[in-house]
Amino acid sequence: MLRGAFISLSRAQWAQRWITRKKFAWRAASRFIAGETPEEAVLAVQRLNREGIHATLDNLGENTEDLRAAASAVEETLLILERIKQHGLNSNISIKLTQLGLDLDVEQAYQNMLSILSKARETQNFVRVDMEDSSITQVTLNLIGRAWEEGFRNLGAVIQAYLYRSEEDIRQLVERGIPIRLVKGAYKEPAALAYPRKRDVDLHFDRLCEILILGSSLQGSPRTRVAGRFPPLVAIATHDENRIRRAVSAAEKAGLPREALEFQMLYGIRRDLQHELAHQGYPVRVYVPYGTHWYPYFMRRLAERPANVWFFVSNLFHR
Ligand code: FDA
Repeated sequence: MLRGAFISLSRAQWAQRWITRKKFAWRAASRFIAGETPEEAVLAVQRLNREGIHATLDNLGENTEDLRAAASAVEETLLILERIKQHGLNSNISIKLTQLGLDLDVEQAYQNMLSILSKARETQNFVRVDMEDSSITQVTLNLIGRAWEEGFRNLGAVIQAYLYRSEEDIRQLVERGIPIRLVKGAYKEPAALAYPRKRDVDLHFDRLCEILILGSSLQGSPRTRVAGRFPPLVAIATHDENRIRRAVSAAEKAGLPREALEFQMLYGIRRDLQHELAHQGYPVRVYVPYGTHWYPYFMRRLAERPANVWFFVSNLFHR
């Protein structure tokens, strides 16, 4: 119930206006967000890189309300790609299609995505297209497939284990060789489309993970790529140790070398586990969100874990 309430709050404009004005809210949110400026984001990535961890930078924003805002999001994203190159960061980027105007004009959002992909190609970088709620799953996969057909090989998709449809989606993506990040799923979905019980989501996650690992073991050697920017075909994005253990054993059974799969986690969550996996020789990538539009992202992090809500409230009393 708490999860649903926070996910609903993430879309409420009144709550966004109220909460983002409060200093205590930013104090709490900054545990999960690298900063409000690109400079702060670059510093966070440099720290991670020094620890042997790769990053994916996310210029926060979603459900953009007009195409001018979408165009400025594109400009900001092109600049961050430039900064990654200038600073020699081991980081790629993650984008959301609703930030690029998908809710307003699908074709314009696609052109915006192509501008980002072209700049990423020029700077030898990779773009992960985050997956949002189920109302846009199909169009997101369609646009990724279309860019792939147009010859872009520097992009990847995200598949959510809570959706029943995901097994079929994974098989199609693997067949085409499109890199996949597997996540549990962070939005509020109806039981007609998604497993309502966490236990079933976990089981589905393990099953999809095995399909992905087997599919990737049949793809042969990884493509030539710039170390730290291009991920392998399989990215397992979770902080759940049981899921990670199962992924490791499936990969060992399939005879995959450690660098053939990547573990991904969110900034500020389970840093101990990030380091442990990196020390074991697995590529680890941390999702580093930054920018002023942090409110919906922060609400989803609160929704995932009741303890975070107490952490949020405790910041109210912290001087
Ligand atoms: P689970 O929720 O079972 O948590 C396992 C453990 O992780 C918890 O016991 C706790 O220790 C820790 N943990 C998890 N969440 C926490 C939190 N918020 N605060 C503190 N500790 C926490 N989703 C989506 O729908 N589309 C997307 O594109 C992405 N992209 C994405 C990228 C990356 C790199 C990651 C890691 C995750 C996403 N997600 C996502 C989010 C994902 O769907 C999911 O909501 C979160 O990862 C939380 O689920 P876990 O898999 O960690 O498991």
